[in-house]
Amino acid sequence: MEENSIKNYDIESWQEVILIYRSALKQVETKMEILNDEFQHVHQYNPIEHIKSRIKTPDSIVRKLNRYGLEPTISNMVERVNDIAGIRLICSFTSDIYELAQIIAQQKDISVISVKDYIRYPKQSGYRSYHMIITIPVYLTEKTVNTRVEIQIRTVAMDFWASLEHKIKYKFEGTVPEDFREELLVCSKMVADLDSRMEVINEAIQELNREKEEEQQEFIVQK
Ligand code: GTP
Ligand code: MG
Repeated sequence: MEENSIKNYDIESWQEVILIYRSALKQVETKMEILNDEFQHVHQYNPIEHIKSRIKTPDSIVRKLNRYGLEPTISNMVERVNDIAGIRLICSFTSDIYELAQIIAQQKDISVISVKDYIRYPKQSGYRSYHMIITIPVYLTEKTVNTRVEIQIRTVAMDFWASLEHKIKYKFEGTVPEDFREELLVCSKMVADLDSRMEVINEAIQELNREKEEEQQEFIVQK
């Protein structure tokens, strides 16, 4: 375990790096809260149901580097581990996900490094989510560090599926037994179906709202 511990390398740089990731995460979190508040103000509805964020634990970073066959050094960690800072946005509808992703990508200080659309192309496990790796500048006293943050965007239903699947995977130490795997795949399809049906209802409601607003506008104009 000794040589696997990042602590042995350079505790001060380790703490500085984590501070930078923490700052990047805070900024992305604040951006998301602002977007949600603005949406609430303009459309009277929240695209983001809730936000979860976390910094990867040292243990988990070292395990990932081991998996990649890399030494647990700070430079490997910064260059190769994309999800040290991670934020998860849970939305009501799939359309919210794509809208949010587009808004995030358009922000001037954000650069999109990569996108994985596991909604359009679900994983073999049945996992669905929209992933973005972005960088955001963190301004320190003597330097600016473009810092990577992983953003996962999913619906409430996708999140429900992913957390159960994660628990099962954990319970069986990574290899889920065949019957569970099949059942999870069926559930994943049900989740996708549920999401698209909820989307249809939501669209119909929004259309009704628009018509009502137009009627009110006409009424005001006539008066
Ligand atoms: P890691 O899977 O983290 O090593 O990175 P990767 O480069 O393969 O990226 P990927 O986009 O596949 O996965 C990143 C994250 O998405 C994971 O850390 C999980 O949080 C989540 N994820 C990916 N696949 C699954 C899955 O099959 N089930 C669940 N529950 N979560 C998943
Ligand atoms: Mg993976």
